[in-house]
Amino acid sequence: MIEFKNLTKRFPGGKIAVDSLNLTFNDGEFIVFIGTSGSGKTTSMRMINRMIEPTSGEILINGKNSKDMNAVELRRQIGYVIQQIGLMPHMTIFDNIVMVPKLLKWPVEKQRKIAEELIQKVDLPLDFLERYPSELSGGQQQRIGVIRALAADQDIILMDEPFGALDPITRDSLQETLKELQRELGKTVIFVTHDMDEALKLADRIVIMQDGKVVQFDTPDNILMDPANAFVENFIGEERLSQARTNFRTVEQIMIRGPVSVSSDQNLSEAIKLMRTRRVDSLFVTDADDILLGMLSVEAIDTNRRRPVTVGEVMSEVSFVREGTLVRDALQRILKLGYKNIPVVNENNQLIGLITRTSIVDMVYDTIWGDIEPEMPAEEVIETTADIETVEG
Ligand SMILES: Nc1ncnc2c1ncn2[C@@H]1O[C@H](COP(=O)(O)OP(=O)(O)OP(=O)(O)O)[C@@H](O)[C@H]1O
Ligand SMILES: [Mg+2]
Repeated sequence: MIEFKNLTKRFPGGKIAVDSLNLTFNDGEFIVFIGTSGSGKTTSMRMINRMIEPTSGEILINGKNSKDMNAVELRRQIGYVIQQIGLMPHMTIFDNIVMVPKLLKWPVEKQRKIAEELIQKVDLPLDFLERYPSELSGGQQQRIGVIRALAADQDIILMDEPFGALDPITRDSLQETLKELQRELGKTVIFVTHDMDEALKLADRIVIMQDGKVVQFDTPDNILMDPANAFVENFIGEERLSQARTNFRTVEQIMIRGPVSVSSDQNLSEAIKLMRTRRVDSLFVTDADDILLGMLSVEAIDTNRRRPVTVGEVMSEVSFVREGTLVRDALQRILKLGYKNIPVVNENNQLIGLITRTSIVDMVYDTIWGDIEPEMPAEEVIETTADIETVEG
C-alpha cells in the first residue's frame, strides 16, 4: 500500500508543484495520473521513490515512512520507467531485459529464468533473447521494453508516459500487454498519461490533477458517470460523456412496458387470436402471477395448429435480462442470441417489459460501437455475463 499524507512539493523559487495530496493506493492496483501539463503528475510520482524529496507531508509504503528508508534501497524496490527510453542497441535482448536485475546482482540463472518467462508472456520466441534490438520489428522492441520494466520483479512500478510517443496501434497493443501482465503478476503500477482513453482503459482508479491538486480520484466508471466538476467534464470530453450516459443506462429506462403475453394454460387458438389482434409474431408465456415461463412463436403455432394443446405444452424456452441490466449488456445479449427482442423480468421473475433490438440499435448502437462493422460475429463482441439467465420452457 502506498499512502500520500498531506504530500506537498514546493520547488526552489516558490512554485507549488504538488499541493497537500492525500491518497491511498492498494497493492495490485493500476493507478493512472492524468491532468494538464504542469499539474504535478511527474512530481507526485517521483516523490514515491524519492527521486524528488517532498517539502512537507509524507509517503508511507506498506506502512513505513519513506523518509526513514534508505533512498537507494527504496529505488531498488520500485521500478521506474521514463518516457521512451528505447532498448540499448549494442546489447542483446537478454541483456536489455535484465539490465536492472544485473545491477541488483542477481545470479545469472535467475536472470535467465525471468527473461525466458517474460519473453514468452509477450509471445516472442526464446531465441530472440540472443538477438540485437535492430533485428526486431518496432512493435517487438516495444514489447521488450514493457517486460524490461517488470524484470526486476519489484512490487511497485512507476511509469511516466511510457507510451507517449507511439502510434495508436502499437500503443493499443502495448496497453493490453501491460494490463494483462500487471494483473497476472499482481504489480502495483503508478502510470502517468495525457491520454484519457489510455487512462480509462488501464486504470483501476484515476487521479485527475489540476494545479498541483487532486480534482477527482475514482474508478473510470465513477468518473464517467459522475465527473466532479466542469474541469473533469471538459477533460473527459463530450463524446465520451454521452457515450457513458448511454452505456450506463439500464433496461428499464428504454423498455416497452407490458409486452403482449399469454397464460400457459390458455389454448393455442386463443393465442393465435391474440397474435392477430395485437399484430405480433411471438408472445411471452407467463403464469397467473406474471412469472415468465417461456415464449410462443409463430413457428410453434404452425406445427401444432391442428392439435388441441395448451400454450404451456408448445412454448419454447426464452432468455431474458433482469431489471437493472445495462442497456449495452442487453444489446450484446440480443446480438449474440440473434434475438429480435428480449424480455425484462424483475427480481421475482415477473415479466415487466421488452427490449427490442430495433429500439436499442437505433438509439445506442452508434454511440456504443462507433464504426465497428455491425456484421461482426457476436462472439467478438466483448463478453459479458451480467444478469442474464435462461428459463426452461
Ligand atoms: N525541478 C524543478 N524546478 C522548478 N519547478 C519545477 C521543477 N520540476 C517541475 N517544476 C514545476 O512544477 C510543476 C509540476 O511539474 P510536473 O513535471 O510534475 O508536471 P506534469 O504534470 O508531470 O506535467 P507534464 O504533463 O508536462 O509532464 C510545473 O509547473 C513545473 O514547471
Ligand atoms: Mg510529467
